[in-house]
Amino acid sequence: MRPIKICDNLYWVGAIDWNVRNFHGHTYTVNNGTTYNAYLIIDEKVALVDTVLGAFKGEMIERIREIVPIDRIDYIIANHVEPDHSGALPSVLGLCPDAKVYGSAKCKDGLEKHYPGKRDFNIVKSGDKLSLGKRDLSFIEAPMLHWPDSMFTYIEKDALLLPNDAFGQHLASSGRFDDEIDNYLLMQEARKYYANILWPFSGLVVKKIEQIVKMGIPIKMIAPSHGVIWRNNPKQIIDAYSKWGNNTASYRVVVAYETMWGSTEKMAKAISQGIMDSGVTVKFYDINKSDKSEIITDMLESKGYMLGSSTHDNSVLPNIAGFLEFFKGMKPKNRIGGAFGSYGWAGGSVPFIEKVMGEAGVKMPLGSVAIKYVPNIEEINQCYEYGVNFAKAIKEG
Ligand code: FEO
Repeated sequence: MRPIKICDNLYWVGAIDWNVRNFHGHTYTVNNGTTYNAYLIIDEKVALVDTVLGAFKGEMIERIREIVPIDRIDYIIANHVEPDHSGALPSVLGLCPDAKVYGSAKCKDGLEKHYPGKRDFNIVKSGDKLSLGKRDLSFIEAPMLHWPDSMFTYIEKDALLLPNDAFGQHLASSGRFDDEIDNYLLMQEARKYYANILWPFSGLVVKKIEQIVKMGIPIKMIAPSHGVIWRNNPKQIIDAYSKWGNNTASYRVVVAYETMWGSTEKMAKAISQGIMDSGVTVKFYDINKSDKSEIITDMLESKGYMLGSSTHDNSVLPNIAGFLEFFKGMKPKNRIGGAFGSYGWAGGSVPFIEKVMGEAGVKMPLGSVAIKYVPNIEEINQCYEYGVNFAKAIKEG
């Protein structure tokens, strides 16, 4: 278990989880695994920034021991309380009981609930510094990026930002740096990570980037807590976060639906054809055959959302119901929505989707389309025209 040198006297000592496929319960499929990044800084004082998921504590401890005896650790910086970063903390403290822990006030609360017991916890706020000797660690609170306790650590000497979850990717790889990974894959995983974890907090992302720019601190490297370290081109991920945070979207429509006997699917295809024939790109998903976290990823940069369901018990079908709940939480801005679906007698799916769109803040300038039983040729044409008009609204909006 070899540590990886990041710069002088600073090492990656985290763990690679090649096999994980679901994250945050089952909300996020991580087809390329992930890493839990922890960083060891050797100075007059020795500091460990974050730890790893508990199951990987042995891997992290071995890496630390390649560099120093573990009881040499003086300080542990807990940028975030979530167990993928704090899981190994109790074990590390067991091996170096005199180590002091630093984190935000909310982190203290969270750690006490996750791991009851006494520890020397020191609350820090934005602007506070901790000297290690030649290096100072500076702390920047980052509440709701993505938990209330979240915090960034900055090292001026190395122009290195350690932002914990921000700027991460769920990507297990043999390379630890951005220049060792195919850039398309890297940015796709960064996009998926933003969409599924940070999108609801986009306003705060933009404010935090503005705050850091205003601070005028040089940033040569960004070392997040998941995925690779941005050493070659940190601007690439800062620019991407500015774009995503500002809800900048392309003229593209995500069509996603659940169908019972195929009528709603016929509607989805006719609507999509109308959109595509009008020169707007479509991403087309049967919700039951698709990865929901991939659909959310496509939604991040799409201007239009066209969602459909057959009516079932006066509402939507159960699987799209779960997806709609997930989607609603993203709170997208400046988007245009449409709703469609077939029904047998009373209907109900389309009003349900309209309600969700409203709660998500998505405007529906064209209303929706609901069709009884199986769409006939006139109704297929109606769906097609709805798609044509939707594409027009996308281009105008
Ligand atoms: Fe990677 Fe919020 O934990």
